Amino acid sequence: MPQNQDPNLLVGFNTSDDAAVYRLDDNTALVMTADIITPPVDDPHLFGQIAAANALSDVFAMGGRPLVCLNLVGFPANQLGPEILHGMVAGALSKVTEAGAVLAGGHTTEDDEPKFGLSVTGIVHPDKVWTNTGARVGDALILTKPIGSGVLFNANRKDWVSQQAMDACIEIIVTLNRTAAEVMQSFEIHGATDVTGFGLAGHGLEVAEGSDVTLRIDLDAVPIMDEALAMYQRGMTTGVNGVNRQLVEAKWHFERELPTWHEEIFVDPQTSGGLLVALPEEQADGLLAALLDAGVGHSRRIGSVEAFGGRHRLIFG
Ligand code: CO
Ligand code: CO
Repeated sequence: MPQNQDPNLLVGFNTSDDAAVYRLDDNTALVMTADIITPPVDDPHLFGQIAAANALSDVFAMGGRPLVCLNLVGFPANQLGPEILHGMVAGALSKVTEAGAVLAGGHTTEDDEPKFGLSVTGIVHPDKVWTNTGARVGDALILTKPIGSGVLFNANRKDWVSQQAMDACIEIIVTLNRTAAEVMQSFEIHGATDVTGFGLAGHGLEVAEGSDVTLRIDLDAVPIMDEALAMYQRGMTTGVNGVNRQLVEAKWHFERELPTWHEEIFVDPQTSGGLLVALPEEQADGLLAALLDAGVGHSRRIGSVEAFGGRHRLIFG
């Protein structure tokens, strides 16, 4: 990746972080990100909501506050009516508004399938940026949403998933990471990321490598969406599990032997997944209680940060 020389670019390409951060002055930095996805659901309004929540999340994951968003749309205008496009934009607008930001325009390009996302610009204090390079040995790890949406969406196309499990999954992914991030502002967050396309293991690896530590994850503590494991057990997967697995396989270790289908949940790609944060051990109970109290009810303490022993970046025990 090209390197930038401007000292005001506090976070750029090199750390696989969630968003770029550019310092304007001593008190304000811009947080900028763009994300675009294909529809995980058929309903255009819901698609817009999910895509927006997903894109906004990268600003929350940096400790920032989103301000201005632009639509990024790919649309087959000769196959789909304008009401579909309007539904997508209306869905996005509802989430952008809920995030405390504005939707200020955007761009639509002809495409053979719908794609939707946002470019998001926010602000953060330059000294209070949460990156994925700050986790420290002894920190606790907290995850704010269960994993498993990737396999559930795929399995749902074959009608394998109950309506109840699908509804629960959708409710989780349309939930903004705003409340979680706001609660975290009162704690000493050392490292943070949101769990998206690379799965819990892939994004955990970014934190582990970026911080030069090892993440120890408690297998029994990781929150998992209802029916997601059953889908892997039944042979369902996603188009990216294989690639995600290749990225982590040499660097992860399971202390307990799990069937391969069970391991797959840790590389399950998330859309609009939760925040994964590292903070001082002694603050972990306080943060967890505050998250649950604020309604971020799926939050769990899932592990701790250890010194890197030279071999494994992720240890599942
Ligand atoms: Co992210
Ligand atoms: Co992203």
